[in-house]
Amino acid sequence: MVQAGRGFGKTRAGAEATSHFLHEHPSSRVALVGPTWRDVRDTMIEGESGLLAVLPPREVVKWNTSLGELTLRNGSKCFAYAATQPDRLRGPQHHFAWGDELAAWERAETWDVLLLGLRLGKDPKVVLTTTPKPRAIVRAVLKHPRCVTVRGSTYDNIDNLPPDYAAAVLAQYEGSRMGRQEIMGELLEDVEGALWTLDDIDKARVPEAPDMLKVVVAIDPAGGGADEVGIVAVGMGKDRHGYVLADRSGHFTPERWAKRAVDLYRELEADKIVVERNYGGDMVKATIQAVDKRVPISEVVASRGKRLRAEPISTRYEQGLVHHVGVFTELEDQMIQWTADTEDSPDRVDALVWGLTDVLNMGQGAAFLDYWKEHPLSTNPAESKRQAQDEAAVRQLQRKMGRGPRFGGGTPNLDPKCEHRWRGDSCVFCGGQR
Ligand SMILES: Nc1ncnc2c1ncn2[C@@H]1O[C@H](COP(=O)(O)OP(=O)(O)OP(=O)(O)O)[C@@H](O)[C@H]1O
Ligand SMILES: [Mg+2]
Repeated sequence: MVQAGRGFGKTRAGAEATSHFLHEHPSSRVALVGPTWRDVRDTMIEGESGLLAVLPPREVVKWNTSLGELTLRNGSKCFAYAATQPDRLRGPQHHFAWGDELAAWERAETWDVLLLGLRLGKDPKVVLTTTPKPRAIVRAVLKHPRCVTVRGSTYDNIDNLPPDYAAAVLAQYEGSRMGRQEIMGELLEDVEGALWTLDDIDKARVPEAPDMLKVVVAIDPAGGGADEVGIVAVGMGKDRHGYVLADRSGHFTPERWAKRAVDLYRELEADKIVVERNYGGDMVKATIQAVDKRVPISEVVASRGKRLRAEPISTRYEQGLVHHVGVFTELEDQMIQWTADTEDSPDRVDALVWGLTDVLNMGQGAAFLDYWKEHPLSTNPAESKRQAQDEAAVRQLQRKMGRGPRFGGGTPNLDPKCEHRWRGDSCVFCGGQR
């Protein structure tokens, strides 16, 4: 395991190790695993530190992007796999594997199935290269009795990094707690007093959302110059659990964030946009309406403290009632770092809390929702009526969504992150049907 900071040369080290293995072992089978299919192709294989840059050109016979297969002159083959699709690793066997950015692998079972198939040859090995994060998958690898760890920091490779890149990474993280992770490659412990842990988020993480009863896009407008605008889409599923569907936050001008939020609202066919009005007053609403007048907008006012607002949501996470659909790295980093003592308001977290409070009816209706969860088949006429309305809403949504994979509804499991390559009606990468 190469556990190191940004730009240390992790990817290059993985590519070099793989190239070395291929050179020494003709006719071998090698697995290349990255967080998504795009990461494997663009970074691990075609990237500037990737395999094609490192292998002697005469050794490469063919790189078949459609199949994700790299064939070498000495008869060896490398196979590309995305950590979003552990099932594709069930069955194939390998002599060697390289996994990049392990800490960003969405599905922990990818690691288990990769190990199970690593059984060809006398001494199968896996090289993992990652900036670490306090996630179960990283801890599991580090605890493995035969794991050998190599550590390093951004500074170790500073001479080989483009100055702009090095300056940007150092400016963002130097001197901060996250810097110990992102620059020094240290595996951080959970933050004492933080409302969330990555383990809780991981345990409830799902690859796909079920049918949604309600979807909202929540916005936390920037309070001051350097702040990000939080733009997070969340929903309540038919199971009445919360689902985090998208995070489109970032640094934007008002016109840009409004457009992004409205685009997301349309993309997910959301019910409304929820905005905090403390800073911008009517401006916030007006900015969104300038993009599209018809978008329903719910304005919320922060009266209680941030922690008071966030606590009930964090409890729902602990209970396994809120699921992230995929990985939202920046949002999750903010969630696990933030404590009430931190003055700085994490904008993505604010948007998340506003959104979940709305879809889970955790404002004034919280007590009602708790009751509802315990009595899903209530005989109370008012509740039965509401249930019938919910069911009707789901059916309507299903009809609308019939063509899209995101909300299920019988559409086969197309991986939304996959760049599909069709063979007949099925995708060779994610196995989904069109
Ligand atoms: N041993 C080396 N000699 C010369 N250049 C190197 C060496 N190792 C890495 N580099 C260069 O340093 C840069 C960063 O390398 P690489 O992309 O492998 O880092 P990384 O740790 O994977 O970065 P990231 O955190 O962005 O994933 C690349 O331009 C790469 O070519
Ligand atoms: Mg890399």
